[in-house]
Amino acid sequence: MTVHELDAFIDGLPKAELHMHLEGSIEPELMLDLARRNGMNLPWLTADELRAAYHFSNLQSFLDLFWTGCRVLVQEQDFYDLAMAYLRRARADNVLHAELFLAPQNFTLRGIAAGTVIRGVKRAFEDAAREPGISASLMIIAQRHHPEAAAFELLEQMMPWAHEIAAIGMGGPEVGHPPSKFTNFFRECRTRGFRVVIHAGEEGPASYVREALDLGADRIDHGNSCIDDPALVRTIAEQQTPLTLCPISNLRLKVIPTMEAQPLRKLMEQGVRVTINSDDPSYFTGYINDNFKACREAFALTKAELIGLARNSFTAAFLSEDNRQRYLGMIDSYAAGAQ
Ligand code: HPA
Ligand code: ZN
Repeated sequence: MTVHELDAFIDGLPKAELHMHLEGSIEPELMLDLARRNGMNLPWLTADELRAAYHFSNLQSFLDLFWTGCRVLVQEQDFYDLAMAYLRRARADNVLHAELFLAPQNFTLRGIAAGTVIRGVKRAFEDAAREPGISASLMIIAQRHHPEAAAFELLEQMMPWAHEIAAIGMGGPEVGHPPSKFTNFFRECRTRGFRVVIHAGEEGPASYVREALDLGADRIDHGNSCIDDPALVRTIAEQQTPLTLCPISNLRLKVIPTMEAQPLRKLMEQGVRVTINSDDPSYFTGYINDNFKACREAFALTKAELIGLARNSFTAAFLSEDNRQRYLGMIDSYAAGAQ
């Protein structure tokens, strides 16, 4: 296959997205529309002006803009519009299943009711399951720069929706806030039957990834820095704990100097179950297929390797076995038809 054929193959490849923050999918046009709807002033008047602000020196500089973007989300309909826009865009990339992050503290700590946020998102998930035909589930993030007590408060607020939450996660500024800061919180989440996912090893060291494993994380979000600890990589490979890599995010946040420095290929070679994801696609100007193509180019990924990465996205997903096999079968049919 030529590189053009491989990119076309990526476009049609059935896939799941497992690491995407709903708040980070807000496109500049929607941010400006919602600011107008909610009678707010933003420092930018046009989408182009806003796009010009999308230059980051590290995770914190991005989060500062990300939280400004969160301020325009106020009413239930705003959350519906946000989620629906992402789901339509993702379906165009042949994402058939998406497990999506939302950090309610971004809103509840400004006095917005948790129900307003969750109901809007859930309604979009229901409508998107019918049209455009994508299944979605919600992962709730506790922000790591807040105290553990605030995470416990969040957990109580989320209990009415407990049966609809795919996992509880940990996000926000990483360095100085290791996973072990939330040891009691994640123990309680697991006691209550929640799956656990933890952002670790994006900017933080390999020891943070090890802590996340020790806390029983079902998946590690990012996990890049595990590459600095060969014994840890072996453990992750043996346990088949999935890593949700976000290559374009890493580049935009200067976690890596070039795409070639992303540990994707090294991790694949050592048998780690890696997946490719977009993280905050609007701010990082890359949806999931852009991420696949950037990796295809940087690592000369073959058709078989691309199929393996798409398979990983479903084997790492929190799906019933029936659904998992159904999606894997769709990859097989697609691959057989695209010689
Ligand atoms: N890292 C941590 N927290 C986040 C991110 C990220 O890349 N995006 C949104 N919240
Ligand atoms: Zn993330």
